[in-house]
Amino acid sequence: MQTLPRVLCSSDAISSATSPATTRAQGLGLLGCGTVGSGVARRLLASHPGLIRGIAVRDPHKSRDIAWDDFSSDAFDLVDDPAVRVVVECIGGLGLARELILRAIARGKDVVTANKDLIATEGPWLAAFAARTGASLRYEAAVGGAIPIVRALGSSLAGEHVLEIGGVLNGTTNFILDAMESGARYDEALEEAQRLGFAESDPRSDVDGHDAAHKLAILAGLAFRRPSVSRSLGRRGIADISSADIEAGAARGLRLKLLAVARRAGDAIEAGVTPAYVPEDHPFARARGAENVVRVLGRGCGPLVFSGAGAGGDATASAVVADVLAALESRERVPAHDGEDLVVRSLRAPVLVRFADGRVVMGDAISLDALEASGAGGRRDVASIIPVWSDAA
Ligand SMILES: NC(=O)c1ccc[n+]([C@@H]2O[C@H](COP(=O)([O-])OP(=O)(O)OC[C@H]3O[C@@H](n4cnc5c(N)ncnc54)[C@H](OP(=O)(O)O)[C@@H]3O)[C@@H](O)[C@H]2O)c1
Repeated sequence: MQTLPRVLCSSDAISSATSPATTRAQGLGLLGCGTVGSGVARRLLASHPGLIRGIAVRDPHKSRDIAWDDFSSDAFDLVDDPAVRVVVECIGGLGLARELILRAIARGKDVVTANKDLIATEGPWLAAFAARTGASLRYEAAVGGAIPIVRALGSSLAGEHVLEIGGVLNGTTNFILDAMESGARYDEALEEAQRLGFAESDPRSDVDGHDAAHKLAILAGLAFRRPSVSRSLGRRGIADISSADIEAGAARGLRLKLLAVARRAGDAIEAGVTPAYVPEDHPFARARGAENVVRVLGRGCGPLVFSGAGAGGDATASAVVADVLAALESRERVPAHDGEDLVVRSLRAPVLVRFADGRVVMGDAISLDALEASGAGGRRDVASIIPVWSDAA
């Protein structure tokens, strides 16, 4: 049983946690109207006229390409509106968005969010809090954009004993590695990704592997019913990858991908984010451009592969709207984690070692933590050490 943090218990919001004010309301409050929020607004204004009760943004005077002219700058007021039953958080980050979600849950309202940072770090206890107040918390859009993987894990695969989950969870880095395969240098590929809107002006969350780690934490938490995977993830990004690494793999029928994977290893879970070589015919290798690929390996169901648009306003809004409809119909709650007793440790895999003189040799399995600690083996003659992926048996 999880305990709620002190900050929550002392919040004034919690005193109205069981307020019945919202039980009959059907309205929706949209918090944020940027890339994702505007996609959500456009869809719902067309498909469910009258559903949106209010839209809160930072700058209500900004010109926007949606049929709404009464933007508010007071998101808390919108959350408190008794006519709002479903709160859709599309602001992002861990500060304001967190406060607003807490407030909505405390008031017993259904919450839909695309906020992977928040769900990865605080999702389990937010879900437990929601269960206490009669609210719900849905976050299909937080992983894999339009790919319906959160719902699949929570319902279709609820009885499955998952052995392994993960894949290519970050479209920006996949776009960059793809462009490098086509001959671009890392900095050129990153610049192109930024120009096309696939990468933020500050790309660190993507290229350092944080974004993929957050998504993996959410998936692993659901798949293994284990709340705190996020604190134990080994993580390497792609900033050190060179064209020579890509070519060394290509010469051996391998493609380089940023993989985020968690799998059972005895009574532990091995989990991590790392650039890794995958065979050209593996589903992970088929992710093109900004696509995501998620593979679930279950004891009963065998391998299942989900792929598609992992980000972007329209794709992400599609998943948000599906959650909104589920909330309105009170169906398919994301189940709370019931806590499997599994230790989480760093992912292990054999490695391809590329020497400065051009030689490339296969090395034994090593954990990401050990790899991170040793750098390129601490040796000047080693140019790179990159794991080679092989599926769990
Ligand atoms: N973009 C994607 O492809 C994608 C994919 C998956 C998940 N997500 C997640 O979706 C969430 C939203 O991302 P996004 O790309 O849509 O972000 P975004 O384009 O930057 O939009 C953020 C929105 O939040 C509003 N906002 C900021 N401060 C506010 C405040 N104090 N009060 C009210 N509104 C405020 C902004 O208002 P203004 O418009 O006035 O500035 C803007 O409309 C994030 O959690 C992100 O991780 C995004």
